[in-house]
Amino acid sequence: MKRLAVLASGSGSNLQAIIDAIKNKDLTDVEIAIIVSNKKDAYALERARLNNIEDVFLNPKDFNSNEDFDKKIVEVLKTKEIDLIVLAGYLKILTDVFINAFENKIINIHPALLPHFGGKGMYGKKVHEAVLKNNEKESGCSVHYVTLGIDEGPIICQKKVPVLPNDTVDTLAARVLDEEHKLIVEGVKLALSCKVIACKDPTKYNISS
Ligand code: GRF
Repeated sequence: MKRLAVLASGSGSNLQAIIDAIKNKDLTDVEIAIIVSNKKDAYALERARLNNIEDVFLNPKDFNSNEDFDKKIVEVLKTKEIDLIVLAGYLKILTDVFINAFENKIINIHPALLPHFGGKGMYGKKVHEAVLKNNEKESGCSVHYVTLGIDEGPIICQKKVPVLPNDTVDTLAARVLDEEHKLIVEGVKLALSCKVIACKDPTKYNISS
């Protein structure tokens, strides 16, 4: 049985997609061992409780530094024998303390076609605003390995969506999020099957059209 830890800071709809995939046996031999949030009111924690999954809230204000905060998360996760850590709308940047403790075992989902529209400050609606401002004809979402750089890790899989002429930030965000819910499950499968290692060669990325 492969054991996941899911980190989330918000609504947790991507987390819910993983929960549902396990329930409907789209994801087999996988369980979510723990859900961690840095936000006490994250609905992701409520989703944990509704699905009898251990949930932990860690308040960054209780720690002297991001490194100390990450040290605590690592300590908690190390007791759970985790095979893969999934950042599903987790809005804290991981420090080297965390990344070095779980090298090549952390994946993230991002609401754009990386390496475009990623990096510092590119999260949530800001991503879709930038895509629209750039008059892009397509956008999409990406699942990638987490490395020290923000949204720079090797891509595991991506899904494209069209940008429509009268799209608003909200209509584009909703279209991308729909695809995220499928892509996050594909990304977990690929990462757990080690079919995609953290490769440096972008031509080896798995991009579904
Ligand atoms: C998603 O758009 C994800 O790509 C980004 O944060 C959002 C999280 O949404 N990292 P949810 O909390 O999973 O609903």
